[in-house]
Amino acid sequence: MKIGILTSGGDCPGLNAVIRGVVLKGTTNYDLEFVGIRDGWRGLVDADFFPLTRHEVKGLSKVGGTILGTSRTNPYEGPRGGAENIAKTMYGHRIDAILAIGGEGTLAAANRLANDGINVIGVPKTIDNDLRATDYSFGFDTAVNIATDAMDRLRTTGDSHQRCMVAEVMGRHVGWIALHAGIASGAHVICIPEVPMSIDEICEQVTSAHDRGRAPLVVVSEGFTITGMDEAFSDKGLDAYNRPRLGGISEVLAPEIERITGVETRATVLGHIQRGGSPSGFDRVLATRLGLHAADALVEGSWGQMVALRGTDIVRVPFAEALGELNTVPQYRYEEAAALFG
Ligand code: F6P
Repeated sequence: MKIGILTSGGDCPGLNAVIRGVVLKGTTNYDLEFVGIRDGWRGLVDADFFPLTRHEVKGLSKVGGTILGTSRTNPYEGPRGGAENIAKTMYGHRIDAILAIGGEGTLAAANRLANDGINVIGVPKTIDNDLRATDYSFGFDTAVNIATDAMDRLRTTGDSHQRCMVAEVMGRHVGWIALHAGIASGAHVICIPEVPMSIDEICEQVTSAHDRGRAPLVVVSEGFTITGMDEAFSDKGLDAYNRPRLGGISEVLAPEIERITGVETRATVLGHIQRGGSPSGFDRVLATRLGLHAADALVEGSWGQMVALRGTDIVRVPFAEALGELNTVPQYRYEEAAALFG
């Protein structure tokens, strides 16, 4: 059986470890043959393939990014898109099935293709940890480690100058990175999209930390909303969609904190640094295990399903379970952390 592998959507540390895992098991335990599909669904639509052997995946578990390239192309768009054309392309290249590694958008497209008769299996990825059918997704642990390290560094410079330091982390719709990095680095304020706050509430916590002799450390998800401040964003042309891309939230938040509290404040946007470089040990193991189990799922023809982490086990779930609602931070998890703010 010949399998085409693609990575689609934003890149994520651990993608290469999945590719290595599935190719190693697929060629050792089974008689699978693999081709790499370049740049996500774009490569499938354009028939941009290359042979993927054990040689290509050697030493890949520690390598960041994706050797396949990625894009946000929709496989249903364009003159060569759509399930019928894709089925013809696959038939022409003797490709029996697709392994699609990606986040919500990728899995939604994979689900549609599966419903239209294409043999496709998925592997969930997102640094944001916002997919609900898996307990954790690879890339998240790496992003939290990078954000935590950055915040530890911001703390020492903040302490030296008695400044408030605002760290803006990724998380367009959910606040998992901010919550975990905030707990790990001992932030005084954690601002996440699930819990909108007013500027006064934020400043109260900043002032309280400052009054206790601390240099206030604030972590904010890019998708956070400051209640009552929509105008400040629209004045800058920043709406809910493009605000995260421009690193807008901390640019509004930091000057407001300084103006209201009188504490000198600096903002740092961590941006794509959180997605680049080597995966953490945890993410290498998770991604590799997902790849190994994906090889079994391919041989067993579990079309329309993805491999996922449940507890410590890798299981298979229908695509539909991962789609729809996002895995947001539950209120109780935020309140748990709030006890640390003092
Ligand atoms: O979904 C992952 C993510 O890193 C988000 O946290 C972020 O908002 C977005 O991708 C950035 O996308 P791009 O790389 O296209 O700017």
